[in-house]
Amino acid sequence: SIVILNFGSQFAHLIARRVRELSVHSEIVPYDMKLDVMLEKFPNVRGIILSGGPESTHQPDAPFPDKSYFEASTVSGRTLPILGICYGMQLIATHIGAHVGRLDAPSDQEITDHLKGMEYGKAELTFAQHGDGGRLLKGLCSKPNEVVWMSHGDSVSKLPEKAVITSTTTSCHVASFEIASEDKYAVQFHPEVAHTISGSTIMSNFVFDICKCEKDWSIQDLAKDLVNSLREEVGPSECVIMGVSGGVDSTVASTLLIEALGPERVHCVFVDHGLLRKNERQQVIQYFEHDLKFSNFHLCDASDLFLSRLKGVTDPEEKRKIIGHSFIESFDKEVENILTKHKDIQIAWLGQGTIYPDRIESAQPSKSAHKIKSHHNLTLPASMKLKVVEPLKELYKDEVRRLGLQIGVPKDLIDRHPFPGPGLAIRILGEIDHEKVKILQESDYLFIQELRNWKLYDQVWQAFAALIPVRTVGVMGDARTYDFIITLRAVTSVDGMTADWAKLPYEFLEHISTQIINRVKGVNRVLYDVSQKPPSTIEYE
Ligand code: XMP
Repeated sequence: SIVILNFGSQFAHLIARRVRELSVHSEIVPYDMKLDVMLEKFPNVRGIILSGGPESTHQPDAPFPDKSYFEASTVSGRTLPILGICYGMQLIATHIGAHVGRLDAPSDQEITDHLKGMEYGKAELTFAQHGDGGRLLKGLCSKPNEVVWMSHGDSVSKLPEKAVITSTTTSCHVASFEIASEDKYAVQFHPEVAHTISGSTIMSNFVFDICKCEKDWSIQDLAKDLVNSLREEVGPSECVIMGVSGGVDSTVASTLLIEALGPERVHCVFVDHGLLRKNERQQVIQYFEHDLKFSNFHLCDASDLFLSRLKGVTDPEEKRKIIGHSFIESFDKEVENILTKHKDIQIAWLGQGTIYPDRIESAQPSKSAHKIKSHHNLTLPASMKLKVVEPLKELYKDEVRRLGLQIGVPKDLIDRHPFPGPGLAIRILGEIDHEKVKILQESDYLFIQELRNWKLYDQVWQAFAALIPVRTVGVMGDARTYDFIITLRAVTSVDGMTADWAKLPYEFLEHISTQIINRVKGVNRVLYDVSQKPPSTIEYE
């Protein structure tokens, strides 16, 4: 396996992910883990990667790894090559006595280019004198413009003779170097990000050619590892309460918990706020109670409470707040019920379906700078002193999906589009009532069914119907109608942060419009939303 020392990089998890994509096991550890501790924990380690990080090596309190890592290439008769990325490169450079200094201020021309829309951080590599990129960049050199992605404020110069510079860019004299005899490799750019075109070749050169790793990691191993670490984390007599929503993440997380701890030690609470998609509640019950034969499934039907509290409320933020508070209240109450019924059990943990991107997003300071929408997710009730367990916190969505299939979660639960916590409340614009919920559920159901029938469902990132509570005039048979508008939204996206409207075929749009108008009473007009995010958002409220 490959061990990644994390110096606080935003991309450390991406490095681990790239290594795992090569079917090689990788682990991220804190930068200050001592070499002997690491060797004991990971006896099969074949190579070390020093991640990037926000610090500067010449700051007085800059984080440095245990020095023995730099001498470890021959420790205990094994080779332990090191790859330094960005800050990691500067650490190697500092260790071998090179100079690490701040980059010169950008020229006016560079600023102008940047403002003209050049992607920040993009750079083109030129390979050093011999025309070969050394061991690490092998196989890259034939391409004329090797595009890499840089993000750094410091640069390396005055390398000792034993270090060979393998590539440069116009603004960075040492874009990569290596000391092959000591198995030290360093890149100033980030091979782990998608913008670095040949990133996976570089990672593969390091992992296979240099470290001689064998393919030893698969999604089965991940499932096993997660189950084992959950057993270690949660004490032998402790139980976990898990909120489930029917979404992919909470379904996979609870399935893992049930597998790891056994069905007696997990309690799943499902709050139905009455604003779910058609049949959603039945699907969740079907999975937990029938497929899994799981008896600690607790349904809390709070639809009347939510709908009565939302009566007369039209402001989107107000709606979100009411739903957030009512949700926690209902969840709390259900937990109280469980505790009263099961006096003998020790509930010590709250399980959450948090995945890795949720953590990066909530760590971004800019997120709070401008509040666009107050996203609703389950937070720990203040009165409950529970520890939090997040089985999926290191994984990306596609890994969660593959893991879910591996542990037997049905495909139709795995490939579902995201669904917001406040549910249909933010898709019925303005005031909510039973009739509108029903109209929207039926319209949305038809839309999704037909997307599946036309094999379009998997081609879009998210799709749904929303109800515009404006009545327009129509004619059906010979009669005049005066009904609501349904708007259909289907988007392509990578992470939901930006999105484009999906170019669904006209024939499909015509078909679905006819279906909805003919089959859903109360609708006489269907629109298709062609706005991008930004400036629009994906949801309507
Ligand atoms: P927006 O509307 O902000 O949506 O462009 C981006 C993505 O987030 C989902 N979304 C939510 N998810 N709680 C959630 O768990 C929420 O309150 C919430 N609001 C929006 C939305 O469905 C889309 O996938």
